[in-house]
Amino acid sequence: MTGPARDDAPRTVVLRGGRVVDPRTGRDEVTDVRIEDGRIASVGTERGDADAHVIECGGALVVPGLVDLHAHLREPGFEHKETIETGTRAAALGGYTAVAAMANTQPVADHAAIVHEIRDLAVAAGLCEVFPVGAITKGLAGESLAEMGEMVDAGVRVFSDDGNAVPTARLLRNALTYAKAFPVEVVIADHAEDPSLVEGGQMHEGLASASLGLTGRPAEAEEIAVARDLAVTRMTGGRLHLCHLSSARAVDLVRRAKSDGVPVTAEVTPHHLVFTDDDLRTYDTNLKMNPPVRSAEDRDALRAGLADGTIDAVATDHAPHAVEEKEAEFDRSPPGTIGLETALAVVLTELVGPGVLDLLTAVERLSATPARILGATDHGGPIEPGRPAHLAVIDPGAAWTVEPPFASRGRNSAFLGRRLRGRVVHTFLSGRSTVSDGKATA
Ligand code: DOR
Ligand code: ZN
Repeated sequence: MTGPARDDAPRTVVLRGGRVVDPRTGRDEVTDVRIEDGRIASVGTERGDADAHVIECGGALVVPGLVDLHAHLREPGFEHKETIETGTRAAALGGYTAVAAMANTQPVADHAAIVHEIRDLAVAAGLCEVFPVGAITKGLAGESLAEMGEMVDAGVRVFSDDGNAVPTARLLRNALTYAKAFPVEVVIADHAEDPSLVEGGQMHEGLASASLGLTGRPAEAEEIAVARDLAVTRMTGGRLHLCHLSSARAVDLVRRAKSDGVPVTAEVTPHHLVFTDDDLRTYDTNLKMNPPVRSAEDRDALRAGLADGTIDAVATDHAPHAVEEKEAEFDRSPPGTIGLETALAVVLTELVGPGVLDLLTAVERLSATPARILGATDHGGPIEPGRPAHLAVIDPGAAWTVEPPFASRGRNSAFLGRRLRGRVVHTFLSGRSTVSDGKATA
Protein backbone atom coordinates (compact mmCIF):
# COMPACT_ATOMS: atom_id res chain seq x y z
CA MET A 1 0.00 0.00 0.00
CA THR A 2 1.81 3.06 -1.17
CA GLY A 3 -0.65 5.79 -2.03
CA PRO A 4 -1.16 7.35 -5.40
CA ALA A 5 1.59 6.71 -7.95
CA ARG A 6 3.19 9.80 -9.43
CA ASP A 7 3.74 9.80 -13.17
CA ASP A 8 6.66 12.18 -12.87
CA ALA A 9 8.55 10.03 -10.34
CA PRO A 10 11.76 8.54 -11.77
CA ARG A 11 11.59 4.76 -11.86
CA THR A 12 15.25 4.40 -10.96
CA VAL A 13 16.95 6.30 -8.15
CA VAL A 14 20.53 5.78 -7.03
CA LEU A 15 21.51 6.91 -3.53
CA ARG A 16 25.22 7.33 -4.05
CA GLY A 17 27.90 7.14 -1.41
CA GLY A 18 25.78 7.23 1.74
CA ARG A 19 26.66 5.42 4.95
CA VAL A 20 24.17 2.57 4.92
CA VAL A 21 23.21 1.70 8.50
CA ASP A 22 20.93 -1.33 8.55
CA PRO A 23 20.34 -3.15 11.84
CA ARG A 24 18.68 -6.15 10.20
CA THR A 25 21.85 -7.07 8.27
CA GLY A 26 24.30 -5.35 10.62
CA ARG A 27 25.60 -3.44 7.62
CA ASP A 28 27.37 -0.15 8.40
CA GLU A 29 29.36 0.91 5.36
CA VAL A 30 29.60 3.57 2.71
CA THR A 31 28.04 2.30 -0.50
CA ASP A 32 25.29 2.88 -3.08
CA VAL A 33 21.64 1.85 -3.00
CA ARG A 34 19.70 1.44 -6.22
CA ILE A 35 15.91 1.76 -6.17
CA GLU A 36 13.85 0.45 -9.08
CA ASP A 37 10.08 0.35 -9.36
CA GLY A 38 9.59 0.97 -5.66
CA ARG A 39 12.00 -1.73 -4.49
CA ILE A 40 15.63 -1.94 -3.59
CA ALA A 41 17.36 -3.32 -6.68
CA SER A 42 20.92 -3.50 -5.38
CA VAL A 43 23.22 -2.49 -2.56
CA GLY A 44 26.82 -1.99 -3.66
CA THR A 45 28.99 0.15 -5.89
CA GLU A 46 27.04 1.56 -8.83
CA ARG A 47 28.31 2.87 -12.11
CA GLY A 48 25.11 4.82 -12.61
CA ASP A 49 23.30 5.13 -15.88
CA ALA A 50 21.77 7.86 -17.97
CA ASP A 51 18.15 7.52 -16.94
CA ALA A 52 18.73 6.99 -13.21
CA HIS A 53 18.12 9.90 -10.88
CA VAL A 54 21.31 10.06 -8.79
CA ILE A 55 21.23 11.56 -5.31
CA GLU A 56 24.66 12.26 -3.88
CA CYS A 57 24.62 11.10 -0.25
CA GLY A 58 28.23 11.70 0.70
CA GLY A 59 28.35 12.25 4.45
CA ALA A 60 24.71 11.24 4.92
CA LEU A 61 23.22 8.18 6.57
CA VAL A 62 20.93 5.85 4.63
CA VAL A 63 18.66 3.96 7.03
CA PRO A 64 15.41 1.98 6.91
CA GLY A 65 12.40 4.30 7.10
CA LEU A 66 11.57 4.83 10.78
CA VAL A 67 8.56 3.16 12.38
CA ASP A 68 6.54 4.80 15.16
CA LEU A 69 4.58 2.50 17.44
CA HIS A 70 2.65 5.30 19.08
CA ALA A 71 1.20 8.43 17.49
CA HIS A 72 -2.07 10.27 17.94
CA LEU A 73 -3.18 11.34 14.48
CA ARG A 74 -6.54 12.58 15.87
CA GLU A 75 -8.64 11.89 12.76
CA PRO A 76 -11.55 11.22 12.77
CA GLY A 77 -12.99 13.62 15.29
CA PHE A 78 -10.25 16.00 16.38
CA GLU A 79 -9.16 17.49 13.07
CA HIS A 80 -8.50 20.84 14.77
CA LYS A 81 -5.55 19.13 16.51
CA GLU A 82 -4.23 17.04 13.60
CA THR A 83 -5.36 15.18 10.50
CA ILE A 84 -4.01 12.00 9.01
CA GLU A 85 -2.53 14.13 6.25
CA THR A 86 -0.79 16.68 8.49
CA GLY A 87 0.33 13.97 10.93
CA THR A 88 1.80 11.74 8.25
CA ARG A 89 3.50 14.73 6.64
CA ALA A 90 5.13 15.45 10.00
CA ALA A 91 6.09 11.78 10.17
CA ALA A 92 7.65 11.73 6.70
CA LEU A 93 9.66 14.86 7.58
CA GLY A 94 10.86 12.99 10.66
CA GLY A 95 12.10 10.08 8.53
CA TYR A 96 9.13 7.79 9.21
CA THR A 97 7.54 5.50 6.65
CA ALA A 98 5.18 3.69 9.04
CA VAL A 99 3.13 5.00 11.94
CA ALA A 100 0.78 3.28 14.37
CA ALA A 101 -2.25 5.52 14.92
CA MET A 102 -3.72 5.38 18.41
CA ALA A 103 -7.39 4.58 18.88
CA ASN A 104 -8.53 7.60 20.93
CA THR A 105 -10.30 9.23 18.02
CA GLN A 106 -14.00 10.19 17.78
CA PRO A 107 -15.52 7.78 16.98
CA VAL A 108 -13.07 5.50 18.74
CA ALA A 109 -11.22 2.97 16.57
CA ASP A 110 -13.05 0.05 18.15
CA HIS A 111 -14.48 -1.60 15.02
CA ALA A 112 -13.38 -2.45 11.49
CA ALA A 113 -15.08 0.41 9.60
CA ILE A 114 -12.95 3.05 11.38
CA VAL A 115 -9.82 1.01 10.73
CA HIS A 116 -10.59 1.02 7.00
CA GLU A 117 -11.40 4.74 7.05
CA ILE A 118 -8.09 5.65 8.73
CA ARG A 119 -6.09 3.51 6.34
CA ASP A 120 -7.89 4.93 3.31
CA LEU A 121 -7.20 8.50 4.44
CA ALA A 122 -3.51 7.62 4.83
CA VAL A 123 -3.33 6.02 1.39
CA ALA A 124 -4.95 9.12 -0.13
CA ALA A 125 -2.37 11.36 1.58
CA GLY A 126 0.41 9.07 0.32
CA LEU A 127 2.99 10.16 2.88
CA CYS A 128 3.34 7.22 5.26
CA GLU A 129 1.83 3.81 5.78
CA VAL A 130 -0.54 4.04 8.75
CA PHE A 131 -1.28 1.03 10.95
CA PRO A 132 -4.43 1.71 12.95
CA VAL A 133 -4.27 0.54 16.55
CA GLY A 134 -7.58 -0.93 17.70
CA ALA A 135 -9.16 -0.10 21.03
CA ILE A 136 -9.09 -2.91 23.58
CA THR A 137 -12.44 -1.90 25.07
CA LYS A 138 -15.56 -0.52 23.41
CA GLY A 139 -15.44 3.27 23.29
CA LEU A 140 -12.29 3.12 25.45
CA ALA A 141 -14.73 2.84 28.33
CA GLY A 142 -12.82 0.07 30.08
CA GLU A 143 -15.89 -2.13 30.43
CA SER A 144 -16.19 -4.72 27.67
CA LEU A 145 -13.88 -5.86 24.91
CA ALA A 146 -14.12 -4.12 21.52
CA GLU A 147 -14.72 -6.00 18.24
CA MET A 148 -11.18 -7.34 18.24
CA GLY A 149 -11.94 -10.22 15.87
CA GLU A 150 -13.27 -8.07 13.05
CA MET A 151 -10.39 -5.64 13.55
CA VAL A 152 -7.84 -8.46 13.30
CA ASP A 153 -9.58 -9.52 10.08
CA ALA A 154 -9.15 -5.90 8.93
CA GLY A 155 -5.40 -6.19 9.55
CA VAL A 156 -5.04 -4.73 13.04
CA ARG A 157 -2.18 -6.32 15.01
CA VAL A 158 -1.88 -4.00 18.02
CA PHE A 159 -4.65 -3.07 20.44
CA SER A 160 -4.49 -0.31 23.06
CA ASP A 161 -6.72 1.88 25.20
CA ASP A 162 -3.78 4.33 25.41
CA GLY A 163 -4.65 7.45 27.32
CA ASN A 164 -6.27 5.09 29.83
CA ALA A 165 -4.88 1.99 31.47
CA VAL A 166 -6.84 -1.23 31.09
CA PRO A 167 -8.66 -0.74 34.38
CA THR A 168 -8.89 -4.26 35.77
CA ALA A 169 -6.69 -7.33 35.77
CA ARG A 170 -9.71 -9.35 34.68
CA LEU A 171 -10.25 -7.30 31.51
CA LEU A 172 -6.56 -7.47 30.69
CA ARG A 173 -6.64 -11.22 31.23
CA ASN A 174 -9.57 -11.52 28.81
CA ALA A 175 -7.85 -9.32 26.20
CA LEU A 176 -4.54 -11.22 26.39
CA THR A 177 -6.28 -14.59 26.30
CA TYR A 178 -8.37 -13.57 23.31
CA ALA A 179 -5.33 -12.09 21.55
CA LYS A 180 -3.46 -15.35 21.94
CA ALA A 181 -6.17 -17.31 20.14
CA PHE A 182 -5.62 -15.61 16.76
CA PRO A 183 -3.50 -17.37 14.14
CA VAL A 184 -1.44 -14.16 13.76
CA GLU A 185 0.51 -12.41 16.53
CA VAL A 186 -1.73 -9.88 18.24
CA VAL A 187 -0.26 -7.48 20.79
CA ILE A 188 -2.02 -5.85 23.74
CA ALA A 189 -0.37 -2.50 24.49
CA ASP A 190 -1.13 -0.97 27.87
CA HIS A 191 -0.81 2.58 29.15
CA ALA A 192 0.37 1.35 32.53
CA GLU A 193 -0.62 3.85 35.22
CA ASP A 194 -2.88 2.71 38.06
CA PRO A 195 -5.95 4.94 37.59
CA SER A 196 -6.68 5.26 41.29
CA LEU A 197 -3.26 6.78 41.97
CA VAL A 198 -3.15 9.30 39.12
CA GLU A 199 -6.59 10.87 39.33
CA GLY A 200 -6.20 14.64 39.07
CA GLY A 201 -2.42 14.29 38.75
CA GLN A 202 -0.60 16.94 36.72
CA MET A 203 3.05 15.93 36.91
CA HIS A 204 5.46 13.49 38.58
CA GLU A 205 4.92 13.34 42.33
CA GLY A 206 8.04 14.52 44.08
CA LEU A 207 9.80 17.58 45.45
CA ALA A 208 9.11 19.60 42.33
CA SER A 209 5.36 18.91 42.38
CA ALA A 210 5.26 19.85 46.06
CA SER A 211 7.03 23.13 45.49
CA LEU A 212 4.98 23.97 42.38
CA GLY A 213 1.74 23.15 44.18
CA LEU A 214 0.63 20.68 41.50
CA THR A 215 -1.03 17.33 42.21
CA GLY A 216 1.35 14.46 41.55
CA ARG A 217 1.20 11.23 39.57
CA PRO A 218 3.52 8.96 41.57
CA ALA A 219 5.99 6.59 39.91
CA GLU A 220 4.33 3.86 42.00
CA ALA A 221 1.24 4.19 39.79
CA GLU A 222 3.35 2.87 36.91
CA GLU A 223 5.17 0.32 39.05
CA ILE A 224 1.89 -1.18 40.27
CA ALA A 225 0.32 -1.29 36.80
CA VAL A 226 3.43 -2.80 35.20
CA ALA A 227 3.72 -5.45 37.93
CA ARG A 228 0.05 -6.34 37.45
CA ASP A 229 0.36 -6.43 33.65
CA LEU A 230 3.42 -8.68 33.81
CA ALA A 231 1.71 -11.08 36.21
CA VAL A 232 -1.36 -11.32 33.98
CA THR A 233 0.86 -11.80 30.94
CA ARG A 234 2.69 -14.64 32.65
CA MET A 235 -0.66 -16.19 33.55
CA THR A 236 -2.11 -16.00 30.02
CA GLY A 237 0.95 -16.26 27.77
CA GLY A 238 -0.54 -13.44 25.65
CA ARG A 239 1.70 -10.79 24.04
CA LEU A 240 2.02 -7.60 26.10
CA HIS A 241 3.55 -4.31 25.04
CA LEU A 242 4.09 -1.52 27.56
CA CYS A 243 3.60 2.00 26.28
CA HIS A 244 5.92 4.89 27.19
CA LEU A 245 7.77 3.60 30.27
CA SER A 246 8.75 6.44 32.56
CA SER A 247 10.20 5.03 35.78
CA ALA A 248 13.30 3.15 36.93
CA ARG A 249 11.28 0.56 38.84
CA ALA A 250 9.21 -0.27 35.78
CA VAL A 251 12.40 -0.81 33.78
CA ASP A 252 13.66 -3.20 36.48
CA LEU A 253 10.37 -5.13 36.46
CA VAL A 254 10.48 -5.52 32.69
CA ARG A 255 14.12 -6.59 32.77
CA ARG A 256 13.34 -9.32 35.28
CA ALA A 257 10.20 -10.44 33.44
CA LYS A 258 12.10 -10.73 30.17
CA SER A 259 14.77 -12.86 31.81
CA ASP A 260 11.94 -15.09 33.09
CA GLY A 261 10.66 -15.48 29.52
CA VAL A 262 7.50 -13.35 29.86
CA PRO A 263 6.40 -12.29 26.33
CA VAL A 264 6.68 -8.53 26.84
CA THR A 265 8.10 -5.60 24.88
CA ALA A 266 8.34 -1.95 25.91
CA GLU A 267 8.82 1.50 24.46
CA VAL A 268 10.14 4.84 25.70
CA THR A 269 9.57 8.33 24.30
CA PRO A 270 12.22 10.92 23.41
CA HIS A 271 10.84 13.28 26.07
CA HIS A 272 11.16 10.72 28.85
CA LEU A 273 14.76 10.15 27.75
CA VAL A 274 15.62 13.85 28.07
CA PHE A 275 13.50 15.81 30.56
CA THR A 276 12.98 15.61 34.32
CA ASP A 277 10.32 17.04 36.63
CA ASP A 278 12.70 19.91 37.43
CA ASP A 279 12.13 21.21 33.90
CA LEU A 280 8.50 21.96 34.82
CA ARG A 281 9.51 24.80 37.11
CA THR A 282 8.45 27.26 34.40
CA TYR A 283 4.95 25.70 34.27
CA ASP A 284 5.52 24.99 30.59
CA THR A 285 2.41 23.07 29.51
CA ASN A 286 4.37 21.53 26.64
CA LEU A 287 6.10 19.45 29.33
CA LYS A 288 2.80 18.17 30.68
CA MET A 289 2.21 14.62 29.49
CA ASN A 290 0.99 11.26 30.74
CA PRO A 291 2.88 9.49 32.12
CA PRO A 292 4.89 12.49 33.34
CA VAL A 293 8.62 13.03 33.02
CA ARG A 294 10.19 12.05 36.33
CA SER A 295 13.48 12.22 38.24
CA ALA A 296 17.00 12.18 36.80
CA GLU A 297 17.41 8.63 38.19
CA ASP A 298 14.31 7.53 36.29
CA ARG A 299 15.53 9.16 33.09
CA ASP A 300 18.95 7.53 33.43
CA ALA A 301 17.35 4.11 34.04
CA LEU A 302 15.28 4.56 30.86
CA ARG A 303 18.46 5.33 28.92
CA ALA A 304 20.19 2.27 30.34
CA GLY A 305 17.14 0.11 29.61
CA LEU A 306 17.03 1.29 26.02
CA ALA A 307 20.74 0.62 25.60
CA ASP A 308 20.63 -2.92 27.05
CA GLY A 309 17.46 -3.92 25.15
CA THR A 310 15.11 -4.08 28.14
CA ILE A 311 13.27 -1.32 26.30
CA ASP A 312 12.78 -2.39 22.70
CA ALA A 313 11.77 0.76 20.88
CA VAL A 314 11.65 4.54 20.86
CA ALA A 315 8.07 5.68 20.21
CA THR A 316 7.01 9.30 19.94
CA ASP A 317 3.61 9.44 21.69
CA HIS A 318 3.08 12.31 19.24
CA ALA A 319 0.15 14.10 20.89
CA PRO A 320 -0.84 17.29 19.07
CA HIS A 321 -3.24 19.74 20.71
CA ALA A 322 -4.61 23.09 19.56
CA VAL A 323 -2.67 26.18 20.61
CA GLU A 324 -5.52 27.56 22.73
CA GLU A 325 -5.91 24.21 24.52
CA LYS A 326 -2.25 24.16 25.53
CA GLU A 327 -2.36 27.84 26.52
CA ALA A 328 -4.86 27.10 29.30
CA GLU A 329 -3.74 27.03 32.95
CA PHE A 330 -1.49 24.08 33.72
CA ASP A 331 -4.14 21.96 35.41
CA ARG A 332 -6.63 22.51 32.57
CA SER A 333 -4.21 22.02 29.70
CA PRO A 334 -4.40 18.60 27.98
CA PRO A 335 -1.37 16.29 28.32
CA GLY A 336 0.98 15.62 25.43
CA THR A 337 3.79 16.83 23.22
CA ILE A 338 4.26 16.49 19.48
CA GLY A 339 7.24 14.36 18.52
CA LEU A 340 7.30 13.03 14.97
CA GLU A 341 9.45 15.83 13.54
CA THR A 342 12.04 15.73 16.33
CA ALA A 343 12.40 12.13 17.56
CA LEU A 344 15.29 11.11 15.35
CA ALA A 345 17.29 14.30 15.99
CA VAL A 346 16.67 13.99 19.74
CA VAL A 347 18.00 10.43 19.74
CA LEU A 348 21.03 11.39 17.64
CA THR A 349 21.80 14.51 19.69
CA GLU A 350 21.01 13.33 23.21
CA LEU A 351 21.90 9.63 23.05
CA VAL A 352 24.15 8.80 20.10
CA GLY A 353 26.25 11.98 20.41
CA PRO A 354 27.17 11.41 24.08
CA GLY A 355 27.69 7.66 23.51
CA VAL A 356 24.64 6.33 25.39
CA LEU A 357 23.64 4.39 22.26
CA ASP A 358 25.69 3.41 19.23
CA LEU A 359 24.26 4.40 15.87
CA LEU A 360 23.28 0.90 14.75
CA THR A 361 21.37 0.31 18.01
CA ALA A 362 19.67 3.70 17.77
CA VAL A 363 18.47 2.93 14.24
CA GLU A 364 17.33 -0.49 15.36
CA ARG A 365 15.22 0.94 18.21
CA LEU A 366 13.66 3.44 15.78
CA SER A 367 12.97 1.13 12.84
CA ALA A 368 13.65 -2.62 12.82
CA THR A 369 12.30 -3.49 16.27
CA PRO A 370 9.16 -1.33 16.22
CA ALA A 371 8.42 -2.75 12.74
CA ARG A 372 8.59 -6.26 14.16
CA ILE A 373 6.33 -5.40 17.13
CA LEU A 374 3.80 -3.72 14.83
CA GLY A 375 3.80 -6.57 12.34
CA ALA A 376 4.88 -4.03 9.71
CA THR A 377 6.86 -6.66 7.84
CA ASP A 378 7.64 -4.45 4.83
CA HIS A 379 9.24 -1.80 7.04
CA GLY A 380 12.33 -1.49 9.21
CA GLY A 381 14.71 -3.09 6.69
CA PRO A 382 16.63 -5.12 5.78
CA ILE A 383 18.08 -2.89 3.08
CA GLU A 384 18.42 -5.76 0.64
CA PRO A 385 17.52 -6.39 -3.01
CA GLY A 386 13.83 -7.15 -3.46
CA ARG A 387 12.66 -5.33 -0.34
CA PRO A 388 10.26 -2.36 -0.57
CA ALA A 389 12.28 0.85 -0.72
CA HIS A 390 11.15 2.45 2.55
CA LEU A 391 14.24 4.52 3.35
CA ALA A 392 15.42 7.72 5.00
CA VAL A 393 18.52 9.76 4.21
CA ILE A 394 19.82 11.78 7.15
CA ASP A 395 22.42 14.52 7.42
CA PRO A 396 23.82 13.68 10.88
CA GLY A 397 25.76 16.93 11.23
CA ALA A 398 23.04 19.44 10.34
CA ALA A 399 22.25 21.60 13.38
CA TRP A 400 18.84 23.20 13.72
CA THR A 401 16.56 24.75 16.31
CA VAL A 402 13.14 23.29 17.10
CA GLU A 403 10.65 26.01 16.25
CA PRO A 404 7.51 26.59 14.18
CA PRO A 405 6.46 26.21 11.49
CA PHE A 406 5.79 22.51 11.98
CA ALA A 407 4.10 20.24 9.49
CA SER A 408 2.01 18.97 12.39
CA ARG A 409 -1.02 21.05 13.30
CA GLY A 410 0.25 20.95 16.88
CA ARG A 411 2.79 23.53 18.08
CA ASN A 412 3.10 21.87 21.48
CA SER A 413 6.65 20.55 21.35
CA ALA A 414 8.44 19.89 24.62
CA PHE A 415 11.64 20.55 22.65
CA LEU A 416 10.76 24.09 21.50
CA GLY A 417 13.87 26.24 21.30
CA ARG A 418 16.20 23.26 21.64
CA ARG A 419 19.24 22.98 19.39
CA LEU A 420 19.46 19.54 17.76
CA ARG A 421 21.77 17.81 15.35
CA GLY A 422 20.58 15.54 12.55
CA ARG A 423 18.13 16.37 9.82
CA VAL A 424 16.10 14.22 7.48
CA VAL A 425 16.99 15.11 3.91
CA HIS A 426 15.04 12.47 1.97
CA THR A 427 12.36 9.95 2.81
CA PHE A 428 11.20 7.27 0.38
CA LEU A 429 7.97 5.32 0.71
CA SER A 430 8.02 2.38 -1.70
CA GLY A 431 10.68 4.19 -3.68
CA ARG A 432 8.57 7.32 -4.04
CA SER A 433 9.97 10.50 -2.55
CA THR A 434 7.84 11.85 0.32
CA VAL A 435 10.56 14.22 1.50
CA SER A 436 13.14 15.73 -0.84
CA ASP A 437 15.87 18.14 0.22
CA GLY A 438 14.20 18.41 3.62
CA LYS A 439 10.79 19.37 2.21
CA ALA A 440 7.64 17.29 1.97
CA THR A 441 6.80 16.53 -1.64
CA ALA A 442 3.04 16.40 -1.07
O1 DOR B 1 0.36 12.76 27.16
C1 DOR B 1 -0.47 12.04 26.66
N1 DOR B 1 -1.27 12.47 25.65
N2 DOR B 1 -0.58 10.81 27.12
C2 DOR B 1 -1.56 10.00 26.72
O2 DOR B 1 -1.61 8.89 27.17
C3 DOR B 1 -2.59 10.45 25.77
C4 DOR B 1 -2.09 11.54 24.93
C5 DOR B 1 -3.15 12.25 24.15
O3 DOR B 1 -4.01 11.58 23.53
O4 DOR B 1 -3.13 13.48 24.07
ZN1 ZN C 1 -0.37 8.03 23.80
